[in-house]
Amino acid sequence: MVGLLLRYLRTNSWKQEMKVGSKNYRTIWLNEANDKVVCAIDQRYLPHEFVIENMSTLEEVCVSIKDMHIRGAGLIGATAGYGMHIATLEAKRKKDGEAYLQEAAKKLKATRPTAVNLEWAVNRQLQAIAKVKTIEEKIYVAKQTAQLIADEDANHCKQIGEHGVKLIAAISEKKKGETVNILTHCNAGWLAFVDYGSATAPMYEAQKRGIKIHVWVDETRPRNQGASLTAWELLQQGVPHTVIADNTGGHLMQHGMVDLVITGADRVTNAGDAANKIGTYLKALAAKDNDVPFYVALPSSTFDWKISDGVKEIEIEERNADEVKYMQGWCDGKIKTVLVTPMESNAVNYGFDVTPARLITGLITERGISKANKKSIQELFPEDK
Ligand code: MRU
Repeated sequence: MVGLLLRYLRTNSWKQEMKVGSKNYRTIWLNEANDKVVCAIDQRYLPHEFVIENMSTLEEVCVSIKDMHIRGAGLIGATAGYGMHIATLEAKRKKDGEAYLQEAAKKLKATRPTAVNLEWAVNRQLQAIAKVKTIEEKIYVAKQTAQLIADEDANHCKQIGEHGVKLIAAISEKKKGETVNILTHCNAGWLAFVDYGSATAPMYEAQKRGIKIHVWVDETRPRNQGASLTAWELLQQGVPHTVIADNTGGHLMQHGMVDLVITGADRVTNAGDAANKIGTYLKALAAKDNDVPFYVALPSSTFDWKISDGVKEIEIEERNADEVKYMQGWCDGKIKTVLVTPMESNAVNYGFDVTPARLITGLITERGISKANKKSIQELFPEDK
């Protein structure tokens, strides 16, 4: 069955953005027949198998975030939103429902520390739930809020595409319609959000408008989100792309082969420092040295309004070193794991790094493009100081 679907996916390019085969997909949704079950694309199996995970307990939602069945800042936030909905259903069966909800919020927030969308979504749920009294009301409000968080995420990404495409269009015009080469790191595509993606949304919009683009896809060790997820997305969409080893970007920039870098972000300070997948900082340094514009695309849920110094104040997730020592791939019709270092060698696995605002040309948000500094960000988001 999975094999059939994969064959179908390989031979059917998407007619519209964010379709898998002929069907429109979001990365997360409520089961139509049973709204107590949350469904999500399990990204551990892509690009080789298309698997959907059903979650009906808070514990399952926490595992799904922590073990990266789902991932990416926007999707982590949306999943946490649905997680709180499930928590209200569970709270109904508890003696002290209120305490259970507070505990659930704590548990969700502890799953992954860097993407601020997680904390943002859980706090939004807590505030919404606190406004009503009975558990039935809380269940209803949490479900509505979860849907709202997901819908907003999709809409904001679409708007990021509409603003960001102007940058691509301007370069295309300057190049007299020649292909615009864009480099991206990790997966800030629709799989990292609910729909469209942040870094990829301008690319999909450019494609829709007939602007010729080509995307350099950093493989993004250790978990290879670029090689496995971004490449899969772009392939489905029919966007020309080339996967490169992580260390290739600097060389390409020196030789004029990159017109623009667009990455996503997991947490951005009120002064424009951006935490993103490990390796992003090195790309920004290379871009600066070669006068290549470096943009970060994010929905406003990724701003951390409380902090201004990203290097000092953003907690960087450290994951299991085995993700560095082992690699996964498709072999003999199965996903297999292989060791790529001496068994005895130590490894360390920092998930993210911080790119200081001075290296960022601009931030592409749902409200428009700002410079990476306090003043310019506040002009776009005056209510969020
Ligand atoms: O560890 P992940 O895969 O959850 O990391 C998130 C990312 O994919 C990237 O850092 C991405 O560029 C920003 S998330 C929109």
